Amino acid sequence: MTIYLEAEAQPLRNTGSIRLYGAEAFEGMRRACLLTATCLDKLADLVKPGVTTQAIDDFVFQFAMDAGALPATLNYRGYMKSVCTSVNHVVCHGIPNDKPLREGDIVNIDVTFIVDGFYGDSSRMYLVGKVKRAAERLCEITYRSLVLGIREVKPGGHIGDIGAAIQDYAEGERCSVVRDFCGHGVGKLFHDSPNILHYGRRGEGVEMRPGMIFTIEPMINLGRPHVKVLPDGWTAVTRDRSLTAQYEHTVGVTEGGCEVFTYSPAGLDMPGFSAERLAEISA
Ligand code: MF3
Ligand code: CO
Ligand code: CO
Repeated sequence: MTIYLEAEAQPLRNTGSIRLYGAEAFEGMRRACLLTATCLDKLADLVKPGVTTQAIDDFVFQFAMDAGALPATLNYRGYMKSVCTSVNHVVCHGIPNDKPLREGDIVNIDVTFIVDGFYGDSSRMYLVGKVKRAAERLCEITYRSLVLGIREVKPGGHIGDIGAAIQDYAEGERCSVVRDFCGHGVGKLFHDSPNILHYGRRGEGVEMRPGMIFTIEPMINLGRPHVKVLPDGWTAVTRDRSLTAQYEHTVGVTEGGCEVFTYSPAGLDMPGFSAERLAEISA
């Protein structure tokens, strides 16, 4: 049985119950998520051949400091960087390092900022110089799968509707959905209940109610869905070393449907793609 509770009255840990946030928290999430999205916008200019993922980390750290925000990943369960940078066959949780990005790489940059106690969590793919059509296509499919998932967010719908929409579409494009990582409740906690699976069946899982806030962050592979975590304890890669992509938005369930908190204020939700292409993919 699912238990839904008013967010303000709950302890700040994942109790397994589902927090329902009020108007003030939605306002707080707008601020945190706007800062996260603005940082992701600024990164579009920085990501070029020759730039190291450590330089991206330095930028994100400084951006947070200048804004009076905290990068949520810094010192999170032993993770020591301000951002995750996942290149090519790295599915997620790539650790910034001193290796330069190369022409043709695709990299997911995942930023989470804490602003006044609220967590804004979002990630996008960045194309390094000119990339192969297969890589571009994978990014398009992944963003579109996220859009289709977001469209299922409304009161009375089920979390399984989101997963089913993503899985049906991605597998229909002969891609696969990573099972080992999922979206999550977010708000005053980084990773909260419920889990948001990117696969599943319509009508299954937790029923959505106004006030719920969570991420949707599908990881889609060109090859098989299986992943493994490298000995560093973080870096997740595709087992078959196939190319993988991910986009992430933080969303809230409203009376009327859904509010996406992490949209780009500059229209750069898919950096490297034209506004026209983004509009087509989102249509
Ligand atoms: N931002 C990631 C997410 O979408 C979590 C990163 S946790 C870290 O949930 F420790 F790997 F940074
Ligand atoms: Co997340
Ligand atoms: Co994230």
